[in-house]
Amino acid sequence: MEPKTFYITTPIYYPSGKAHIGHSYCTVGSDAIARYKRMQGYDVMFLTGTDEHGQKIELKAAEKGVTPKEYVDKIVAGFQDLWKLLDISNDRFIRTTDNDHVKAVQKIFRQLYDKGEIYKGAYKGWYCTPCEAFWTETQLKDHKCPDCEREVKWAEEEAYFFRLSKYSDRLLQLYEEHPEFIQPESRKNEMINFIKNGLEDLCVSRTSFTWGIPVDFDPKHVVYVWLDALTNYITAMGYGSDHDEDYRKYWPADVHFVGKEIVRFHTIIWPAMLMALDLPLPKQVYGHGWLLFGDGTKMSKSKGNVVDPVVLCDRYGVDAIRYFLLREIPFGADGNFTNEALIGRINSDLANDLGNLLSRTTAMAQKYFGGTIPAQRETAPIDQELIDMATGLREKCDRHVDGYQFSNALAEIWKLIARANKYIDETAPWVLGKDEAQKGRLAAVIYHLCEVLRIISILIAPFMPNTAPKIQAQIGAHGDAVCYENAGVWGMLPADAVITKGETLFPRIDVEKEIAELIAIIGDTSGKGEPAKTDSAKEETKAAQPAEGTVTMEQIGIEDFLKVELRVAKIQNCEPIKKAKKLLKLTLDDGEGERTVASGIAKWYAPEDLIGKSIVLVSNLKPATLCGVESQGMILAADCPDGEVKVIFVDGIPAGSKIH
Ligand code: ME8
Ligand code: MG
Repeated sequence: MEPKTFYITTPIYYPSGKAHIGHSYCTVGSDAIARYKRMQGYDVMFLTGTDEHGQKIELKAAEKGVTPKEYVDKIVAGFQDLWKLLDISNDRFIRTTDNDHVKAVQKIFRQLYDKGEIYKGAYKGWYCTPCEAFWTETQLKDHKCPDCEREVKWAEEEAYFFRLSKYSDRLLQLYEEHPEFIQPESRKNEMINFIKNGLEDLCVSRTSFTWGIPVDFDPKHVVYVWLDALTNYITAMGYGSDHDEDYRKYWPADVHFVGKEIVRFHTIIWPAMLMALDLPLPKQVYGHGWLLFGDGTKMSKSKGNVVDPVVLCDRYGVDAIRYFLLREIPFGADGNFTNEALIGRINSDLANDLGNLLSRTTAMAQKYFGGTIPAQRETAPIDQELIDMATGLREKCDRHVDGYQFSNALAEIWKLIARANKYIDETAPWVLGKDEAQKGRLAAVIYHLCEVLRIISILIAPFMPNTAPKIQAQIGAHGDAVCYENAGVWGMLPADAVITKGETLFPRIDVEKEIAELIAIIGDTSGKGEPAKTDSAKEETKAAQPAEGTVTMEQIGIEDFLKVELRVAKIQNCEPIKKAKKLLKLTLDDGEGERTVASGIAKWYAPEDLIGKSIVLVSNLKPATLCGVESQGMILAADCPDGEVKVIFVDGIPAGSKIH
């Protein structure tokens, strides 16, 4: 029997600028799904590509003094290099400048015209000649062009229109009959409302610029870039050519992954076009969320926020970046990208949890058994929970992957990793190792850990394709032992497997040093030092000065701030200091142990107000003796305008948490 097919696509990206981490986000997500489905035995088609026409690209090329094709060729090569770097396993890469695509789009446009689905009409509106842009009455600003504020004139331009409006009911019916068509669910209502507000026919040709696919029967028109772009999903499969086997094999797509801002094009215009062509519709459009940078919308320099995927891969390795993108943000939701979060994940999830599990296990196999675990193994009841969790993992991952929730799949895998680390603590192999009579038990414990690592290595392969084989090499697992079918079967690692302690998978990163270096990198790439200030920049600086009366201090760089270690601590005890009326003596739990701090807040707080509360501690302040009490740090409090002092309470945050 032929294997079932699975066709997944990313948007085709505009090569108007360099490929960035946002593009990588969607592409890495699609890649993980494509790899997972291949592992499950599907015949997968994974398509990505570039959307190369349109006025914006024409203008960018003109600015650079090159032809649009020269301009895009260079940027597209950058996209392709990045996908190689990120280990993207796309089966095909479509460029809308490919000859086959151009021909197929012309054919589709003509078919739609012949069927009466596209008609010639007039594009009417207020026209701004310098901007070559049409505006509606409501878009105008004081009856002038909202972009350049110059005079506009009423104009009518000949154009072709697609009868989008007639598809309103069929689209609503589609969403109703196929509730899975638009995912996540929340995006569906937006689309329904959009349609209910009234769909207008869509202008699908332009005469104001030339960088596009010419309408072959009326060549002063070029095809609207979205009509050109959306068809890529079928033209890449050979639709409209004489070699359309792949189209027949893979279409309709199982899922189009797209960012939430283009769900509308994919769930309204695209299905309507396919309906007009009498072609099958894609099974699902999944609108994922946005990766936000720093302060929520933009890249934040002050945090050393490097988001260039190439720089990140060079510093941390491809799999760490892939893991972060897939794990940090539930697909569908928006999420922040910060270097702190990335490094945090690398240190805790990768270096600590996974890396330690592997290095502890292989080190013990070496130390106690010279790398081959004896076949005489003595199991114990405590093993069963670990075994059940490990053999049940595959099914859980399958389920999350089916819903495109890779962050949940990874979370499940990491639960098993945590359980296995706990199993080491529970079984204490270093104690067993001291007793010759416990050899069989020790063998079982280490074998079980290897088995857990084997199962994990299979299931993380789609997400972290470089790490999986490294783990397998270290535990000596290959062939059948590492195939997907055996991810749910216990005991597949052969007794003669040779276990070796290999390289550290993910070295720990010194957060503070790293952030300081990242800031230095941003400094380097941002230009050569501080640019000379123009008059208007000087004005802006002036405006940015704080209002009179606000306390200000000399500005410091982030490197100065990073010298201060702030930590949450819990007040265990508090008592007055006899010799000093202003001071209270606090006994704190700082997450690692106890320390004493003297604080000048006796005027505002009684000891019982403070005991049990969590506060912010400057934990690397040099100790000082105040009225006979050695104060090992300082707690943060605010001087309020009315002269009162208020301690900053942070209840609910665990003691020891670092603050930055
Ligand atoms: O829209 N966070 O291309 P585009 C998450 N050519 N994803 C992001 C992102 C971010 N900050 N920035 C970009 C186009 N993306 C059209 C598509 S399809 C027929 C034509 C991802 O270069 C996300 O998937 O603007 C988004 O939808 C896509 O890149 C947009 O890429
Ligand atoms: Mg965009």
